[in-house]
Amino acid sequence: MPDRDPAPLDTTSIPRARMPDLTLSFLAEGYDFIREHCAYHGSDAFEARLLGRRTVFCYGEEAARMFYEPGRFTRRGAVPSFAFKLLQDEGSVATLDGEAHRARKALFMSFMTPVRLDAVADAAASRLRDRLAAYPDGAALHDVVRDVLCRVACDWVGVPASPDEVASLAEEAGAMIDEAGSVGPANWIARLRRHRSEEMLAHLAREARAGRLELPEGSPAAAFVAWRGPDGAPLDDAVVAVELLNLIRPIVAIARFVTFAALALHEHPAAREAIRAHEEGQLGRFVSEVRRTTPFFPAIAGRVRTPFAWRGRAFEEGELVVLDLYGTDRDPRLWRDAARFDPARFHGREPGAYDLIPQGGGDPFSGHRCAGEWLTIVVMEAMTAVLAREAVWRVPEQDLSVSLTDMPALPKSGLVLADVRLEAG
Ligand code: HEM
Repeated sequence: MPDRDPAPLDTTSIPRARMPDLTLSFLAEGYDFIREHCAYHGSDAFEARLLGRRTVFCYGEEAARMFYEPGRFTRRGAVPSFAFKLLQDEGSVATLDGEAHRARKALFMSFMTPVRLDAVADAAASRLRDRLAAYPDGAALHDVVRDVLCRVACDWVGVPASPDEVASLAEEAGAMIDEAGSVGPANWIARLRRHRSEEMLAHLAREARAGRLELPEGSPAAAFVAWRGPDGAPLDDAVVAVELLNLIRPIVAIARFVTFAALALHEHPAAREAIRAHEEGQLGRFVSEVRRTTPFFPAIAGRVRTPFAWRGRAFEEGELVVLDLYGTDRDPRLWRDAARFDPARFHGREPGAYDLIPQGGGDPFSGHRCAGEWLTIVVMEAMTAVLAREAVWRVPEQDLSVSLTDMPALPKSGLVLADVRLEAG
């Protein structure tokens, strides 16, 4: 059944919620929280309290344009520390603003050249092939792809790591991603693990600077160690470690998207067949649709840096705004029959900077949009192509349910595959 036409929303004002604080509702309602409260208020934005702070919640293309106006928001002090310590941490590019941000972001973006992107995609496809050729029956695809991507990430970033070190990095990075939305002991353990990974990477930076370790020429690791900021100063070893982890951890996180891609291949055989048949553009459309529909980063928070007005309301310095990424990707004003998985919607439609925003919106060079979006796309395409075209596999009976209150979400079983084999040819 297609979605009903959405009721028109008020886009002129920002209603205020009566409830004193919505923090518990956010945790209980998960991905649907912002859109459902917006629907209740008949608007695409509303104001409430989150963790005791006055906060404007919003979604949709107009809201994304407001949020991604360069220089308007800072990420500093916007994300609660339980998530911040796992996803970014002190000194990372996300915590910078203005010229310092622009310069560090340019370094990140300098790794995203076609040649380097091809290299990471080829490595991901080739290592996935190897693992599929000897797939342990009943293993969860998410675990397998996570391991594969951690090895790929270490090689691509230029971090020399033994198989044991890669395995523990994969576990540590995995815990950081799994627990970023949680509060309590699991989150603390993940933070300890982050600390361990950072120690290992800071040690590597120290050894390279002391001339006791040679990092691969032209690699991100070598570039971060050699880099000097606009003030001419090199980065601290601890900040090099934070930034290297900011490359490795999210590359490992692509395993979530790949798992959802495999699930979509299983659930939509016609879409898989079109990829197998090399139908022009189908792989790209399929991957866009997986990124649009996967519950991953629910929302992004910013604190006002430069005061501005929107919808007749003045936004003052320090105020908090939360943009619903998942809700924008499912906004019926942007996507017809938005809940349906339908790669064909991207026929003749290039995603814009403010509509398909699972990794943030706007321009990645001048704003905070994800530095690794192109890398994510090429790796997803490469791994999806192997799963769709080169491998045969079966999805045995299992719990594939996806809870929209687990952030980030995953099919409960992690997607167990059976009878996996590579097709000859
Ligand atoms: C796995 C899928 C990924 C998702 C869902 C994702 C999502 C995001 C989101 C929502 C942001 C915040 C945008 C904002 O603050 O407005 C972000 C920032 C960032 N991401 Fe990703 N990302 C992914 C993969 C990657 C990869 C593969 C890399 C690097 C290779 C990466 C590196 C970064 C960096 C460095 C930032 C901070 C950018 C800045 O503050 O300027 N991400 N990502």
